[in-house]
Amino acid sequence: MEIYTKKQALKVYLSKIKTQNKSIGFVPTMGALHKGHISLIQKAKKNNAIVVASIFVNPTQFNNKEDLEKYPKTLDKDIELLKKVKCDVLFYPSVEEIYSNSVKSESYDFDGLEYEMEGKFRHGHFNGVGTIVKTLFDIVKPNKAYFGEKDFQQLQIIKKLVKKEHLDVSIQSCEIYREDDGLAMSSRNARLTIEHRNAAPFIYKVLKEVKQKFKTEKISVINNWVTNEFKNHTNLELEYFTIADEKTLKTAEVKENDKKYRAFIAVFAGKIRLIDNIKLKLS
Ligand code: PAF
Repeated sequence: MEIYTKKQALKVYLSKIKTQNKSIGFVPTMGALHKGHISLIQKAKKNNAIVVASIFVNPTQFNNKEDLEKYPKTLDKDIELLKKVKCDVLFYPSVEEIYSNSVKSESYDFDGLEYEMEGKFRHGHFNGVGTIVKTLFDIVKPNKAYFGEKDFQQLQIIKKLVKKEHLDVSIQSCEIYREDDGLAMSSRNARLTIEHRNAAPFIYKVLKEVKQKFKTEKISVINNWVTNEFKNHTNLELEYFTIADEKTLKTAEVKENDKKYRAFIAVFAGKIRLIDNIKLKLS
């Protein structure tokens, strides 16, 4: 595996690949890789001649200083994992390499997607994501880029970014990868205490019940049920639960036959914030 820390050197390497008409698959990450990331790399390997992964803990998308400082870093292990799945190139730049002297986000208009759910609790987060993803796309110029559905709002926002900025890349989504007990895989899971780790599968258990209830119950009834499920939980604190239209991400109050819905949830397990979502069906 080739490892690059400088964008110019990576660009030169990839421009040679481009002239050979080979397709480039790109998997941007913040490291602390888990099986979910690896499944993205494997999918990218299947559909492209060359796969580039990036590891960059992007400061502008963190709205919580402690979350940024304590974000898990496991570079040696990550490199081993990437080599094992035959990832071709790793881009591992420094903050200076990406942002020079100005660690700031661009301001984007994502047609309102950015104000829903995560946007209400993580101010500026999606401007940070938009900024880094656009920057990385400009450097790597991938044909296809791969993102997980755990961050479903991020995925929709990146699709919007590509459309609005007329970027020549196809966004590929991949289903949520879960631990055996149902907890959605996330780099932040590594920071959970044993107590909170044991409690966390409750989130997916609730989402699975929501999926069942959605077929027969009113949305307001489901919302109240979820709030109550978390009310007396000793280790988990509900930040938000919402059933939303997959396309607009706007909270749904009533079900409409021609729309697609998903349930979205954010929960604090101690200081660690976990998010998850599930696709819903009307019948
Ligand atoms: O999903 C992530 O890990 C990050 O938000 C991303 C897309 C790599 C941008 O920093």
